[in-house]
Amino acid sequence: MPDEAGQASSCPMSGTAALEMLGWFDHQGRAQLPWRHTRDPWSVLVAEVMLQQTQVARVIPAYHAFLSRFPTPAACAAAPAAAVIEAWHGLGYNRRALNLWRASGMSVERFGGEVPLELGDLLSLPGVGPYTARAVLAFAAERDVGVLDTNVARVLARTEGRCLGRAEAQRLADGAVPKGHGWAWNQAMIDVGATVCTSRGPACERCPLRANCRWHGQGHPHPDPAIGSAGVSSGQSIFAGSDRQGRGRLVDALRQGPVTNLALAAVMGWPNDPCRAERVAAAVVADGLAQLTRGRYQLPG
Ligand code: ADE
Repeated sequence: MPDEAGQASSCPMSGTAALEMLGWFDHQGRAQLPWRHTRDPWSVLVAEVMLQQTQVARVIPAYHAFLSRFPTPAACAAAPAAAVIEAWHGLGYNRRALNLWRASGMSVERFGGEVPLELGDLLSLPGVGPYTARAVLAFAAERDVGVLDTNVARVLARTEGRCLGRAEAQRLADGAVPKGHGWAWNQAMIDVGATVCTSRGPACERCPLRANCRWHGQGHPHPDPAIGSAGVSSGQSIFAGSDRQGRGRLVDALRQGPVTNLALAAVMGWPNDPCRAERVAAAVVADGLAQLTRGRYQLPG
């Protein structure tokens, strides 16, 4: 962020732009999202881990259900891993559930039952990377750190008018936060990225950053600077036919009950490829998402 007088620095966002953005968020932001109505670090962590790879509409009901079942890190840590994996139903990427369960245990053992609110401590939790750690700091503790996800990286690359590496994007994200407004600023950046400055059809006419956007000011030259910026183009890989699909099918089946070795290939959707099924199931076991005992797979105890 520039100085008090609003002088533009290397970041093209001025003090006026910050006001424009915060005003836009007040009126156009997605205020109804449930995780925006809490500052409880555990609730924020749960929301952010769910939002890492799952769409908002799917996360909302799961978020409510998960927190009524596991309202605190202690409640989560006291449950068997299987219960947390069961509660992850419908969200995919089940390793996140296991990591969250492990993070709850660490919060109990090392941080007095609370999700820690220091960057280094947060980063020491399994499944918590730079995005999630800063999101907890900004959204639970209202710290002035820049939350950098794919959407925000796209917004920053376009406003800067050039492709950004991850470290530079993080520096710009941190520097853009108006002092004392870390919570609203980051929520606004996420919303602009998700609903206005989208990858395929940026709606510049409704963008609060339009006046400060170099890419817009230059008439949207090719290539879009967002492409390749800070991991922006690393979308999810194709699901159909993937190992991930088989893994998901196995864990879904295990939520209903044990699966025998004989049934494994069919359950995973590869009835004619039992070798692949066994190999991928072994990886599920190695990750800690399943146990294999006497020819039967089941969720971990
Ligand atoms: N609010 C806070 N974090 C969010 C996210 N990752 N996606 C959507 N809304 C959010």
